[in-house]
Amino acid sequence: MLVNSKKMLLSAKAGHYAIPHININNLEWAKYILETCEEQQSPVILGVSEGAIHYMGGVNTVVGLVKGLMEDLEITVDVCLHVDHAKSFDTCKKAIDAGFTSVMIDGSTYPLEQNIRLTKEVVEYAHSHDVTVEGEVGVVGEQGSGVADKAKYATVSDCLKFYQETNVDMLAPALGSVHGLYKGEADLDFTRMQEISEQLPIPLVLHGGTGIPDDKIKHAIACGINKINVNTELQVEWHNAIVQYMDQNKSIYDPRKIISSGEEAIKNSVRHIITLFEQK
Ligand code: 13P
Repeated sequence: MLVNSKKMLLSAKAGHYAIPHININNLEWAKYILETCEEQQSPVILGVSEGAIHYMGGVNTVVGLVKGLMEDLEITVDVCLHVDHAKSFDTCKKAIDAGFTSVMIDGSTYPLEQNIRLTKEVVEYAHSHDVTVEGEVGVVGEQGSGVADKAKYATVSDCLKFYQETNVDMLAPALGSVHGLYKGEADLDFTRMQEISEQLPIPLVLHGGTGIPDDKIKHAIACGINKINVNTELQVEWHNAIVQYMDQNKSIYDPRKIISSGEEAIKNSVRHIITLFEQK
């Protein structure tokens, strides 16, 4: 069923595990992820960035695509369709009106007060439509930067103020993670993560899941992380498989054969993520 993220994340918080948030880029990504989650009987949050929404044609196409796949593939696990890093109220409203069940409003580059105002506006609209909202405090390392700026890690007091004034359903405190590939190892502040999770009654989110070693993922879950976002890992695994296939099949031009030569790579990645996050 297409659901908001509330129930699955509260179960994850109670059970001390994390729900996979996996970004989709196209039909194949959505299909492979849904099939694997059904096979593994795992709930999932499908994250769609503003760029991916634009790439796929728009919010209505994304909602229609995911709903259609769920019906045709007979998906029974809970699926949450979530806008990732929306930068404006307008993007969130359009997505909610089209049928997205969750949104992230990313006001992290604004001063805290402005971030709170923007997030609050989105929360009011979203909650009146039974849609959940994620906010961000501090700044996650940018794609391609490889390292996070320590001065931009979230503080406990900012997170508490942000939660109390916005009433978000889940919070991503930036604590050393980076979008894309890391230069060296992720330098996560587990002590602060634990403190924030003890002060806030809502589930915490870890962005930049690609490239964080398994033991650090487990540590983060133990410190209160209940949603972990992964995008780049699937792209890299898919790319590696495609390059190998194209090398060995230079005369193939059927796009279905080319794109789907990365299917098992994506599915194996999703299987690993589910097993790791559930700490089976
Ligand atoms: P990665 O691409 O580093 O896995 O990060 C994904 C993410 O945080 C999406 O919001």
